[in-house]
Amino acid sequence: MRIDIITVVPDLLKSPFEASILKRAIDKKIVEVHLHNLRDYTDKSYNQVDDYQFGGGAGMVLMIEPIDKCISALKKERKYDEVIYMTPDGATLNQKTANSLSLLDNIIILCGHYKGVDQRVRDLFITKEISIGDYVLSGGELGAAVLCDTIIRLIPGVLNNETSALTDTFQDNLLAPPVYTRPADYKGHLVPEILVSGNFPKIEKWREDQAYERTQKLRPDLLDY
Ligand code: ADE
Repeated sequence: MRIDIITVVPDLLKSPFEASILKRAIDKKIVEVHLHNLRDYTDKSYNQVDDYQFGGGAGMVLMIEPIDKCISALKKERKYDEVIYMTPDGATLNQKTANSLSLLDNIIILCGHYKGVDQRVRDLFITKEISIGDYVLSGGELGAAVLCDTIIRLIPGVLNNETSALTDTFQDNLLAPPVYTRPADYKGHLVPEILVSGNFPKIEKWREDQAYERTQKLRPDLLDY
């Protein structure tokens, strides 16, 4: 999979891809992530990429021309499955969206900044708009990092133990069951006995029950459909 991210602050997006699971996925060549600085696509003085909004009002707006130039240059090289715009008024990201995006070959992610982008960018180039939650970030970059993490960890070969993504919270609309590791007795606080019983069918049943109970208690909304 190839992910091209368009941003005015590429520095904000470097470190998530330089450590841990995302770095390993890139090193293993399972995924390529390319950062594009929007300022490299403007002819204006001072590398200007934003301007005041027509009609007045506070806040700058990213202009269409550099975004058009950048997206067009990328599209000349290959076909893209989705051109995603990170925005608080997009569809809220969930595991189902992450699962379907993880199956694609090439995607572009455009990060908004300031008051966002000229509406014509959204009308002409964007195929999907995603929010990471009902709160406002300073820009789409941190949202893009979250989106990339959720997608990349699902690609086969990225996690060491592939079943571990399948048993994640949300994969069956259920929260994950509690987990424990050594020591079995920590200052008198014991691990549930069933987990050290060696009875694997019973352990499996216990985990399913726990997942269901946890979901009912903490996120009953997930059981509604
Ligand atoms: N840009 C600003 N706020 C955002 C959010 N909540 N999700 C995605 N992109 C954003």
